[in-house]
Amino acid sequence: MEKNFKRTLVTTALPYANGPVHIGHLAGVYVPADIYTRYLRLQGRDVVMIGGSDEHGVPITLKARKEGVTPQDIVDRYHAIIRDSMKELGISFDIYSRTTSEIHNHTASEFFRRLYDNDKFTVATSLQPYDEQAGEFLADRYVVGTCPRCGKDGAYGDQCEACGTSLNATDLINPRSALTSAPVSMRETTHWFLPLDRYESDLRKWILEGHTEWKTNVYGQCKSWLDLGLQPRAVSRDLKWGVPVPVEGAEGKVLYVWFDAPIGYISNTKELLPDTWETYWKDPETRIINFIGKDNIVFHCIVFPAMLMAYGDGFQLPDNVPANEFLNLEGDKISTSRNWAVWLHEYLRDFPGRQDTLRYVLTANAPETKDNDFTWADFQARNNNELVAVLGNFVNRAMVLTHKYFDGVVPQPGELTEAETKVAAEVEAAKNALTEAIETFHFREALKQAMEIARIGNRYLQESEPWKLAKTDMGRVATILYTAVNLCADLAVACEPFLPFAAARLAAMLRLENISWSMIGTNPVAPGTQLGTPELLFEKIEDEAIAAQMKRLEDIKKQNQIANFKPEPQAPEIDFETFEKADLRVGTVLECEKVKKSNKILKFLIDDGMEKRIIVSGIAQHYDPKDLVGTQVCFIANLAPRKIMGIESRGMILSAMNADGRLVLIAPRSEVAAGAQIK
Ligand code: MF3
Ligand code: ZN
Repeated sequence: MEKNFKRTLVTTALPYANGPVHIGHLAGVYVPADIYTRYLRLQGRDVVMIGGSDEHGVPITLKARKEGVTPQDIVDRYHAIIRDSMKELGISFDIYSRTTSEIHNHTASEFFRRLYDNDKFTVATSLQPYDEQAGEFLADRYVVGTCPRCGKDGAYGDQCEACGTSLNATDLINPRSALTSAPVSMRETTHWFLPLDRYESDLRKWILEGHTEWKTNVYGQCKSWLDLGLQPRAVSRDLKWGVPVPVEGAEGKVLYVWFDAPIGYISNTKELLPDTWETYWKDPETRIINFIGKDNIVFHCIVFPAMLMAYGDGFQLPDNVPANEFLNLEGDKISTSRNWAVWLHEYLRDFPGRQDTLRYVLTANAPETKDNDFTWADFQARNNNELVAVLGNFVNRAMVLTHKYFDGVVPQPGELTEAETKVAAEVEAAKNALTEAIETFHFREALKQAMEIARIGNRYLQESEPWKLAKTDMGRVATILYTAVNLCADLAVACEPFLPFAAARLAAMLRLENISWSMIGTNPVAPGTQLGTPELLFEKIEDEAIAAQMKRLEDIKKQNQIANFKPEPQAPEIDFETFEKADLRVGTVLECEKVKKSNKILKFLIDDGMEKRIIVSGIAQHYDPKDLVGTQVCFIANLAPRKIMGIESRGMILSAMNADGRLVLIAPRSEVAAGAQIK
């Protein structure tokens, strides 16, 4: 940091309260923001971490409509789930509020009103998408269509999630109503616009010249936006749910959700600090950091800053906007509508007491510079091979040995040797690298450096072998265990931002109170300290738990395939005579077995009421042959014989392919005579 700031305001993107939060939200925003904030607290710096639910906007009303409940019902339900689950994960917000609060309503109204009074808006009447059937204007996500920028279908009226471009509803190609799927018609309506073009040169200077240190993904998106030239953006909408536009003649209009939501950062700070909130927003010695996902970059780097510039009154712009890329799940894009996600509240239910494991994996795999993948196999491996085998193992060895040789009382060290000097130098290097990485928002690297301290400890114990020296040189053992215990103390501090639950348990075992960053490398556990009972910090995750999660995902994939099934187009017409040529029959399975050297094919012996026949069929992956003996199947009897895997097949057994790729045999509803014709 070039500049010495007095305090830091950390904001976290306000999640829409239209569903629970998932690992993508956590990896992108809340876990990194929490690491950063916890670190600053350990540094003794003045910091507040602001969060809350985004409770307005079309995502909320769409969900309410889908369920036939009110938007208020939706936000009440999900606000509670999100707030409670984040708390349980240890995301240490100083406040987690909501944009339906009284104070927010008031703050957002006042913000708009001031811009309005100071002529910061333009007014324009334009044609906007309208759904004739529903009798409503279609704002933002109420319209879907093809993105004019990347050509992908399914872009929303305000944004294409595929390429991240922020759009106007009128930009979409082939626009359709999300309510009725009907093509939209256009109607005139009047709205207030924030003329972003007026701020273009200030934004260029501020970002392109002033913040070359921003992450390349953030800087690059801003640059391409600015290079395209900024357009005025409507900041009101024809909707019922939202903060009413606080001027005369605006009945039936509310603030655009992306106008009101970022003001939520301000309202929530006010709610937390009614008397001092202004110093966090207006003092140039405050450093504002916005943690967001990549789909929020333009709103935080262009739109909200322009709003703040328009407002004036000393509001500070963010000093950094560390946006992450996206996290995928098992190779597929996380999607709320497809239920392709690991939901935090479900994770906490399925893996009680394992908050740190999730935090660890999401940090180790954070999509910092490119999209990244979460897999359950990696989750298990990192828990078992890193948390258990490296960190947990070192702490356990140090604790158990100290109990074994010194009854858990930290021994007085003797003269330090080269080994201890080396450990101290290595810890110092790791601490410096760790500090530098956190300060520059490289949390994956930071976590690696914190874990490095455990690796240093394991190497030290391995090389100095106190269990051998215990027979000959207890003085040396004392020095080694004093050093090891104090490495545990370094870990209790260095890991706290990442693994706060394990760090707290470790600190308690070490009788460490009021930990602070400056303790790292200073041997804070004094000789004579009676340590607590050694406890395992982490436990292995067994295969069954992982298999259960994989099964859940497979089931979801199947459900999605069935929900999205589109039948094949119909084949060209045939006449009745052509149809009659096919001789379809019912037969009874007399024998059925798997064909050797093939994992797909079953060989059937069918009672066809005539001479019996052999038919082979490619359904071995879907049925167990012994379950089929005695059942009835349908087949085409007069198909020319064909050799398959050396077997002559006389006919073809009928089956239907389900949407999930499963083959289902066709059978009569009740038993019929073998050889009966199907008409
Ligand atoms: N609710 C938005 C989203 O999930 C984020 C809002 S961030 C804020 O994409 F700045 F507007 F609060
Ligand atoms: Zn696009």
